[in-house]
Amino acid sequence: MIVLSRKTIKGASSSFWMQSLGALVLFCVFHSISGYSERERAHDLMSRYPLIDGHNDLALQLRILHDNRLSQIDLHNVSKVATDIYRLQAGHVQAQMFAVYVMCGAQQKDAVRLTLEQIDVVRRMCTEYQDFELVTSAQELKNAEMRRKIACLISVEGGHSIDSSIPTLRMLYQLGVRSMALTHTCNTPWAESSSKLYNVFQRQNNSLTEFGKAVVDEMNRLGMIVDLSHTSWDTALAVLKHSKASVIFSHSSSYSICNHSRNVPDWLLHELKKNNGLIMVNLHSKFISCKDEANISRVADHFDHIKKVVGAESIGVGGDFEGAVSFPKGLEDVSKYPALIQELLQRKWTEDELANVLRRNFQRVFEDVEKVRDQLSSKRPSEVQIPLEEVQNPCRLVLRPPGSTGLRSDQNTSSGAEHGSPGLLILVPVLLLASLFVTE
Ligand SMILES: *[C@@H]1O[C@H](CO)[C@@H](O)[C@H](O)[C@H]1NC(C)=O
Ligand SMILES: *[C@@H]1O[C@H](CO)[C@@H](O)[C@H](O)[C@H]1NC(C)=O
Ligand SMILES: *[C@@H]1O[C@H](CO)[C@@H](O)[C@H](O)[C@H]1NC(C)=O
Ligand SMILES: *[C@@H]1O[C@H](CO)[C@@H](O)[C@H](O)[C@H]1NC(C)=O
Ligand SMILES: [Zn+2]
Repeated sequence: MIVLSRKTIKGASSSFWMQSLGALVLFCVFHSISGYSERERAHDLMSRYPLIDGHNDLALQLRILHDNRLSQIDLHNVSKVATDIYRLQAGHVQAQMFAVYVMCGAQQKDAVRLTLEQIDVVRRMCTEYQDFELVTSAQELKNAEMRRKIACLISVEGGHSIDSSIPTLRMLYQLGVRSMALTHTCNTPWAESSSKLYNVFQRQNNSLTEFGKAVVDEMNRLGMIVDLSHTSWDTALAVLKHSKASVIFSHSSSYSICNHSRNVPDWLLHELKKNNGLIMVNLHSKFISCKDEANISRVADHFDHIKKVVGAESIGVGGDFEGAVSFPKGLEDVSKYPALIQELLQRKWTEDELANVLRRNFQRVFEDVEKVRDQLSSKRPSEVQIPLEEVQNPCRLVLRPPGSTGLRSDQNTSSGAEHGSPGLLILVPVLLLASLFVTE
């Protein structure tokens, strides 16, 4: 109703109709109806092209608030969070990339275990509730829409989750992970973060090392979407030059509108366009207005600007609900997305452009990533290992037969175990975990 009256006032001030009370009444009635129909139009458009959202941290909140004990809550209606099944349905969110995030403090410690536990909670949530469906391919994503399910995609948020191990990356793919952000707020030994929060693996240059390139190569080969949100601009550029497949920024906004280092500058948007990739606009107030408060109009400014620079075919939505503290007035939870679409309709975005933004762009990128995977199908799994001196991790054990000491004698043994990366150390629990899923 607030929207209706604001619209009425805005229209009234620019109108020459108001010469008699009768005309004014007619005017108000007309504009109330057109205001109503604009809201309806947004809902109608979204029911035909329901949203695929690039980023949501519900899994993190499930850990923080409920210690991942799904039995204690009903995901249809969850308090203290902005995401639950009823609100996803009300907001026409048909697909959600759920982030699997573990804090940077776990790098060099138990990041891999924590990542597996977060994958477990997303998989449980998306298989134990009929309203959800776990999807791992572009075709399954389409099928889920026809079946009127909320599709869950799993994305890893931060390269520290693979502990510099390509076999671990492959095992995450086996568990259903279809996207990975190369960093979170910490550098990894092989890629650089946009944040200076953590003082680890600092570098002057080489923002994507040889091993980092091997990680991107393997993601291309597997068909896992590379996510550049949280990386430094240098790393993003290096990846854009190296990746064979389209990439995404799953939750980043425009640096020209709000100069936060998590946002993307215009020159980088141009590189993204050459890659046919996607920037999925983050709604967190801090990235929208560079302040703790923001409004829908300011969010729409990001969309307008990015469209002006690289076109609507490069844009998506990555709300970042549950991963950030403050959201714009009117966009407080996942049920509010139609208000944003209504604002963009009012700004003369076409239905075709919005259908692209809502889902077709993401669908295209996912299909492109799968196409590249298919083109690379004759390529063997990567056996590239990171040089130990680049990892600098005292917790990292090299698997050796008992009694042997020193690298030289290890290399002469025939067991083969010494050639394994630490990926082997987690292989057993991963396989156990995988077998549990099969029986579910
Ligand atoms: C969600 O639960 C709260 C109480 O926790 C209740 O007041 C509210 O009506 C519920 N909402 C829906 C849509 O069921
Ligand atoms: C990168 O930095 C290292 C020292 O950190 C330096 O030795 C090397 O020359 C630099 N390379 C380039 C291309 O600047
Ligand atoms: C961002 O812009 C504000 C003013 O709009 C300015 O004060 C600030 O220095 C800028 N920050 C950076 C990192 O450029
Ligand atoms: C929205 O916020 C911006 C600042 O980010 C402000 O300039 C503008 O007036 C606000 N618009 C409305 C409709 O409140
Ligand atoms: Zn994030």
